[in-house]
Amino acid sequence: MTENTSQTPLVELRDISLAFGGIKAVDQASVSLFPGEVVAILGHNGAGKSTLIKVLSGAYSKDSGDIFVKGEHATINNPRDAKSYGIETIYQTLAVADNVDAAANLYLGREILTRWGTLDDVAMESEARKVMGRLNPNFERFKEPVAKLSGGQRQSVAIARAILFNAQILIMDEPTAALGPQETEQVGELIQALKRDGIGIFLISHDIHDVFDLADRVMVMKNGQTVGTARTEDVTKDEVLGMIILGKCPAGAEPGPGALPS
Ligand SMILES: Nc1ncnc2c1ncn2[C@@H]1O[C@H](COP(=O)(O)OP(=O)(O)O)[C@@H](O)[C@H]1O
Ligand SMILES: [Mg+2]
Repeated sequence: MTENTSQTPLVELRDISLAFGGIKAVDQASVSLFPGEVVAILGHNGAGKSTLIKVLSGAYSKDSGDIFVKGEHATINNPRDAKSYGIETIYQTLAVADNVDAAANLYLGREILTRWGTLDDVAMESEARKVMGRLNPNFERFKEPVAKLSGGQRQSVAIARAILFNAQILIMDEPTAALGPQETEQVGELIQALKRDGIGIFLISHDIHDVFDLADRVMVMKNGQTVGTARTEDVTKDEVLGMIILGKCPAGAEPGPGALPS
């Protein structure tokens, strides 16, 4: 193990496999995530990243393998199960309601009511300001429909919504794919704020440049398998590219079943 073994991982995926018909989309892949850690899951399109992570989010049921949450064996058969373990996914197609404001988005489907049973807008806005203040202190546009916000601001609303409901493990699949450079930077700041709160984040990407500087560790997949896992401080970007493209595991990484024999 390359990571700090004195701590229990927030989550561990061990030897996960899932085939679609004859295609082994995920083939004995493993990865762990510690509190306050960002782990990038990297690999070419079709490497199996989204499928692996959908096993964790409950969108797919695995064929084999084990999931542990805080050291305990976890049963995840649907998204509701995943949420009960504090696992939330921030989708690329940002799941926000465009026609209402940030506070309403945070409480969509889980509104705070007054004792008369009406919507408690004051309480919801006040809570929204607290959570958003932690994530994105410059955010002031609480009264505007989310449609008017930038991509980065919309993402902070989606993340705030997850945090508000006790997410401890966040999955972000290609988080910066639809964003410009300035918004990408904002997402980076958001991720730093989440880390400080002890939240663990899986960042899924096909582009190492998007995530290398944000990640504490990388896990590279190829043909559904784990090529290897490394701390970003122990490897170079070029070495990680070699893992992605060739399946070659450098000295600073721990090889998985998908590594080329050396
Ligand atoms: N729902 C599905 N049905 C059939 N094949 C799928 C499905 N989802 C993914 N695959 C296949 O599984 C493999 C891994 O896909 P995916 O996990 O989406 O890769 P990545 O996210 O790394 O691009 C690919 O060969 C893909 O075509
Ligand atoms: Mg994908």
